[in-house]
Amino acid sequence: MSAQQAIKVENLNKSFGSGDTFVDVIHDASFTIYKGELVALVAPSGAGKTTLLMMIGCVDTPVSGKIWIGDEKVYDNKWLTKTTRKIRREKLGFIFQAHYLIPFLNVIDNLVLLPQANKVDEKVAKTKARELLKYFDIAEKEKAMPSQLSGGQNQRVAIARALVNDPEIILADEPTAALDSARSIDVVKMLKKIAKEQNVAIVMVTHDERVLPYCDKIMKIENKKTVFEDVSAVK
Ligand SMILES: Nc1ncnc2c1ncn2[C@@H]1O[C@H](COP(=O)(O)OP(=O)(O)OP(=O)(O)O)[C@@H](O)[C@H]1O
Ligand SMILES: [Mg+2]
Repeated sequence: MSAQQAIKVENLNKSFGSGDTFVDVIHDASFTIYKGELVALVAPSGAGKTTLLMMIGCVDTPVSGKIWIGDEKVYDNKWLTKTTRKIRREKLGFIFQAHYLIPFLNVIDNLVLLPQANKVDEKVAKTKARELLKYFDIAEKEKAMPSQLSGGQNQRVAIARALVNDPEIILADEPTAALDSARSIDVVKMLKKIAKEQNVAIVMVTHDERVLPYCDKIMKIENKKTVFEDVSAVK
């Protein structure tokens, strides 16, 4: 079986502003990411990593180019669908540097928020959420508030939340930035396991060289273009 395409980007361009405030960020980027892959996105600060992630995530609009999510072409010099929100809800999961759990909801209610917005039955959503909490070894924390959890536990809840709607793609912007080295490696190993077991494509922005050997591919932004580096170089 040949690898299934999860994200395809062709000749993508992105700039901000005009005149004195013009910044050219991504220039003619083209790449394909497949299901089951954990891809590290590495580039200096300000190189456009978050911008690229947000365009793939159908949050930020490119200037021009093409984007496919799975086999569906979603952008061709304009959004092809009025429902980028639907794509985000149904096909994508997001994990951020700070976990962004809702502080006034307990763990389980944070997890069922998105499925309920997608009109999933509450019982079904809770069962799935509990399975994930068990998987991440935090089942006993389901009634805890985010403020009662450690940084690593909060991040595990945030990863569980990104998985609760069975996304095809997970976009993670420095998910380990708030964690110590051992915990960062744990989180990345967990992401790798998810990619393999659930056939999910994961794009993870990271500054941490120690986690690179656990990734399948390393994507860099060089001179505004995306290039892949051989992961065996860092192993
Ligand atoms: N909304 C915006 N308006 C204007 N310029 C922006 C906007 N968002 C990002 N930029 C500019 O685009 C460039 C890329 O920003 P981006 O946040 O994608 O970088 P990054 O690689 O994620 O950096 P970091 O590692 O610091 O998070 C920067 O020069 C930034 O100033
Ligand atoms: Mg960023």
